[in-house]
Amino acid sequence: MKEIIISPSILSADFAELGREVDAVKKAGAKGVHIDVMDGHFVPNITIGVPVVKSLRKATDLILDTHLMIENPEKYIKPFAQAGSDILTFHFEACKNISHAAEVISLIKSFGKKAGISIKPATSAEEIFPVLDKVDLVLVMTVEPGFGGQEFMHDCAMKIPVIKEHAQENLIIQVDGGINNLTSKICTSLGANSLVAGSYIFGHNDYSKAVQSLY
Ligand code: DX5
Ligand code: ZN
Repeated sequence: MKEIIISPSILSADFAELGREVDAVKKAGAKGVHIDVMDGHFVPNITIGVPVVKSLRKATDLILDTHLMIENPEKYIKPFAQAGSDILTFHFEACKNISHAAEVISLIKSFGKKAGISIKPATSAEEIFPVLDKVDLVLVMTVEPGFGGQEFMHDCAMKIPVIKEHAQENLIIQVDGGINNLTSKICTSLGANSLVAGSYIFGHNDYSKAVQSLY
């Protein structure tokens, strides 16, 4: 079986201690950090942007997995790529149509970055099938994007096998929202190979135990 990639979401980290938090999750066994970018339009919350990615790039060699919950993603691919993101994931719902999504994917790849597409709970897996062979990662949201600490939506996880069945062998199928030691197993048994967890990891008093408990 292929490795499961754990990507802690820094949304639940202590932002005043971000460098130390990132070092701590690296020591705990995480391979990347998930950076939730919210614009107050696509989602009703505002978080962090390009300067934070730039600082994190200097501070760590972990994979910087950037989740863009923003409108007009095409405007911000270049700055996030140049800031040092390794993976850039945008939302299908932020695109006008599937051709627009294909353009955003090409743009991400033109900077030599991994391209991810994310779907919200109400979007079916089938809607992104036309671009499935163009992306490196599909992010299945198992909560409504916007906030950490929400409850896992079981129905959404049923999109994982649908995507897996149509995916190329190396596709990263990532799940985000409400991941803990129980819901992680549901997702990996359905075919997910990357797990984002925010409040579960950063809310734990032992990050190593938290990361290990997700496998
Ligand atoms: C939600 C974000 C998530 C969030 C997950 O909009 O995309 O990455 O940080 O938080 P938890 O793991 O607490 O559900
Ligand atoms: Zn996220």
